[in-house]
Amino acid sequence: MATKLKLAALVVLAAFLAGPAASEAASICFNGWLRLPTYNPQLCRSSPTVRTRQRVPAPSGSGLTSGYYNTRCPSAEQIVTDAVKKAVDANPGIGAGLIRLFFHDCFVRGCDASVLLNTTNSKNSDTEREGPPNKDSLRGFEVIDEAKAAIEAACPSTVSCADIVAFAARDASYFLSDRRINIQMPGGRYDGRESFANETDQLPGPFSNLTALQESFGAKGLTSDEMVVLSGAHTIGRARCMFFSSRFPEMDPAFAAKLRAQCNGNDNTNVNQDDVTPDVLDKQYYQNVIDKKVLFTSDAVLNSTETITQVTENANVAGAWERKFESAMENMGKIGVKTMGDQQGAEIRKVCWRVNN
Ligand code: HEM
Repeated sequence: MATKLKLAALVVLAAFLAGPAASEAASICFNGWLRLPTYNPQLCRSSPTVRTRQRVPAPSGSGLTSGYYNTRCPSAEQIVTDAVKKAVDANPGIGAGLIRLFFHDCFVRGCDASVLLNTTNSKNSDTEREGPPNKDSLRGFEVIDEAKAAIEAACPSTVSCADIVAFAARDASYFLSDRRINIQMPGGRYDGRESFANETDQLPGPFSNLTALQESFGAKGLTSDEMVVLSGAHTIGRARCMFFSSRFPEMDPAFAAKLRAQCNGNDNTNVNQDDVTPDVLDKQYYQNVIDKKVLFTSDAVLNSTETITQVTENANVAGAWERKFESAMENMGKIGVKTMGDQQGAEIRKVCWRVNN
């Protein structure tokens, strides 16, 4: 009896020392990207960059202007549009990839194309592409490279990769929404020269709760409403089973049964995010939230009292979500931008996946 008591006390002490998450069934780590059976202090530390309740001002985007390339490189935006149109016609999923690429670029070091780098001058350091949210997941890089090569041939060293990413997200949104979403996307961003895999923990993950989502967006100067609006992008594209198979019991039973069959126990299988209109960027996502037909915890928590009014409005009022999505995407494109005035650490890259020498 005494030994049993001692053992129980030890277990409690170990859990206490390991931190609060250790006493839960699973630990949610790396800002909601990892669901680990046991607590890992290295991966589960709370990131100082994210864990802030401080109100950051809305991104100003100062230095960006509409029609920035009209005189500098008149064909630039059309080249991007043509490349995106061709790619989306062949595979709408690439359009989804391009929209996500923009989000993942802007949330880490600002919209500076740091997400595209696989080579920098910082030796022995993995770039953002290797971070848990991005590895084996991001797609659309070849569309950016194709547009960049054509633009470089027309106007060398003039158009940044960061602007190409932003224009590509705008155009993918336009084509995937049957031309209903028309984002005003200014230009003038410069490209960064650094990229670090560990900084991708600034992106909220699929296991994030509402507070973590609000904090991650708040840390970039975006509001909770903008977080709800931008989450609507989960009406297109795909996701791997590893991010939602623990949630089957919480989903609509028929939806869960279908997913269970598709996943068939394989973590890496991809399924459509929106079962109803999988390739259309529309407001269907919000009906899916209400119907419990969404994949992630981060989607399902939008059913909370704090956010349900907006979800219902987005689901029911024709055109409301589309207009809000346009301005939220424009706003996201202003996060942490580097512009012509930034003498250090910014450039117009010649090739999007490596820094200039
Ligand atoms: C609110 C927090 C968000 C979380 C937790 C989140 C998480 C995820 C996850 C886990 C995936 C699937 C990745 C995989 O299985 O490989 C995904 C896919 C996707 N996300 Fe998000 N995301 C969020 C917000 C956004 C935003 C703001 C956008 C864009 C405006 C976006 C656009 C997309 C798209 C389009 C896909 C599908 C990509 C493809 O098919 O290649 N997400 N997201």
